[in-house]
Amino acid sequence: MQESKPIGLHQVLMWIIGNRNELNILKMNENKEMGTAVVTGASSGLGEVFAERLAERGYNLKLVARRKDRLDALAEKLESKYGIKVTNLVADLGSDSELEKVAENLRSDNSITLLINNAGTSTLSSISSTSVAKQKEMVNVNVTALMVLSHAVLPGFIEKNTGILINIASVLGFYTLPISAVYSGTKGFVVQYTQGLQEEVKGTNVQVQLVNPATTATEIWEVGGVPLSALEQSTIMTTEDCVDAILSGLDKGEQVTHPSVHDQKLIDNYEDARIKLFQGSQHGQPAERYITQA
Ligand SMILES: NC(=O)c1ccc[n+]([C@@H]2O[C@H](COP(=O)([O-])OP(=O)(O)OC[C@H]3O[C@@H](n4cnc5c(N)ncnc54)[C@H](OP(=O)(O)O)[C@@H]3O)[C@@H](O)[C@H]2O)c1
Repeated sequence: MQESKPIGLHQVLMWIIGNRNELNILKMNENKEMGTAVVTGASSGLGEVFAERLAERGYNLKLVARRKDRLDALAEKLESKYGIKVTNLVADLGSDSELEKVAENLRSDNSITLLINNAGTSTLSSISSTSVAKQKEMVNVNVTALMVLSHAVLPGFIEKNTGILINIASVLGFYTLPISAVYSGTKGFVVQYTQGLQEEVKGTNVQVQLVNPATTATEIWEVGGVPLSALEQSTIMTTEDCVDAILSGLDKGEQVTHPSVHDQKLIDNYEDARIKLFQGSQHGQPAERYITQA
């Protein structure tokens, strides 16, 4: 019988270092099966955590944002930690020409199996104190870019009968504050648009998930002019908790994920009321309360 030598932590570490290349090759072979996940807005907040979680799941990544330094640092970390391939697409999604370059890149990449439209921006202030440029920026990034990039991948997903699209909306997609008319408007678009896409992919294996996060501890609050410190602290979720809840919802096959809503009945009742209101409108006659008596 061969005597087994005790293996110390140091030896285990040396073995891992010595075999890192082989381990990474093994992981890269796994990645071929998972394909490439695209995460927009990966330079901070939810997008950065999405990138890490998807790398952990074995996806190669395409990361999109404006801040190159942050994307480069993240790519380096994820490549060495998970043995995956990361490509950064540095782009301003609010610019038509840069958005088109990103869309063209996605259209021509057959390895893409998942897209998270996560990039978003907000300016939280009344209409009279928000410049038209800021309002347009919210529409360009939150609405136009999300629509154009969904369009870049979805026909391919449908053709291949597989793929995952995750669109990040917000609880402000179905609720409005006096300082969120434009932001809520853009997120309302994401809600309706994504539900429309879900109707389109019915009967296929393509998964389209609509996500409505509530307050989460990210830079978007500072960007929007409301510091996190001004908010009721117990209402703020961590980015990790939010992303893990979203991916848990994805794994369960949910169509609509509300990471912080505990009571499932609230979600079901809202969906039910929405559908009943629509059905109640299909009568072709003015409602009695609008008919003036002669
Ligand atoms: N945090 C919350 O409370 C909350 C709640 C509900 C929904 N959401 C939604 O969650 C998503 C992620 O936001 P977050 O909270 O994680 O905020 P965040 O940390 O500010 O992240 C926003 C990301 O979007 C990118 N982005 C913004 N403008 C862009 C542009 N013009 N071109 C390219 N990329 C751009 C940013 O990258 P660069 O600046 O490097 O370009 C950044 O990576 C957004 O859609 C947001 O509306 C957030």
